[in-house]
Amino acid sequence: MMAASDPQGQIITIERHILEEQSSFPGATGTLTNLLYDIALAGKIIASKTNRAGLVEILGRTGDTNIQGEEVQKLDRFADATFFRMNDHTGRVALMASEEHADILPIPDKYPTGKYILLYDPLDGSSNIDYNICLGTIFSVYRKITDGRGSLEDCLQKGRQVVAAGYLLYGTSTMLVYSTGRGVNGFTLDPAVGEFLLSHPSIRFPKTSHYYSVNQGNERFWSEGVRTYTGWLQGRENDSPSLSARYVGSLVADFHRNLLAGGIFYYPADTREPGKTHGKLRLLYEAIPLAFLAEQAGGCGSDGTQNILDISPQSLHQRTPFFVGSRDLVERAEAYIQKLG
Ligand code: AHG
Repeated sequence: MMAASDPQGQIITIERHILEEQSSFPGATGTLTNLLYDIALAGKIIASKTNRAGLVEILGRTGDTNIQGEEVQKLDRFADATFFRMNDHTGRVALMASEEHADILPIPDKYPTGKYILLYDPLDGSSNIDYNICLGTIFSVYRKITDGRGSLEDCLQKGRQVVAAGYLLYGTSTMLVYSTGRGVNGFTLDPAVGEFLLSHPSIRFPKTSHYYSVNQGNERFWSEGVRTYTGWLQGRENDSPSLSARYVGSLVADFHRNLLAGGIFYYPADTREPGKTHGKLRLLYEAIPLAFLAEQAGGCGSDGTQNILDISPQSLHQRTPFFVGSRDLVERAEAYIQKLG
């Protein structure tokens, strides 16, 4: 897809797009605008490392990294530290929480705090790092609702309170897809100019779906409802959509493909071990941001019984079964689960 341009034929950079969105919010101070731009910048830095991931061993062996005084850091730790450092000193964020840390991440005392709460999964799909497969960063932004420098309560807000959410996809190109509640827009990083350019304006799930994405290797651990639903997706009933299966195992990549092509991603509860009866994916870091984007694109996200955005989070690392994608497919999953369990 070509980069979108305005009627005068100018390319729309992410900075310009965020600024234009800001102008449609009366009373906006520009803080969120700048926060989103900080996130885009963090994404560029992480992308520059993920692009070189396969070279880490070689560079480490030749000693290049030692000459520059850098230590070879694991990519997920690098992404985590980058996201935090890009946002810890700006005065825009009151508190952060990362999928990589057990507890909330306060802003260091030497820096001012702001009015937003930033939650992120710095490198989702980390089991794919060693194989040169797509990775992603997922983020969500809330308003601070407590006094002072923020607390756990600020992080445990319902998805309905999300102010902005999105993801960075480190694939064949680097993309940033985000929403501030006014639809979903996608930007592709142009490495020649080092800027994200609007490439996918106003993304909506297509009316016709093509793909379902699930780790079918877990099928024997699923409930009757999920197994029967999967059969329906595959074409085993008269009104089946007969979808093709696609599963990367990087949530951002699977979600992104289904957003553009139409489809559903799900990671249901399973009976493997007690911890997995609530699913594998994290409500705060993975499910809520993607459910928010899905809804903004005309789809939705569910835990199989209720909308993800209506769940009251109880803890930072709470897990949830997750069904997200084209609305009709998610609703059909809920119907099968309600009927068969
Ligand atoms: P992680 O970042 O720990 O690798 O988790 C990845 C998540 C998500 O990206 C993906 O959809 C799912 O786990 C894959 O899980 P399975 O390997 O169990 O299919």
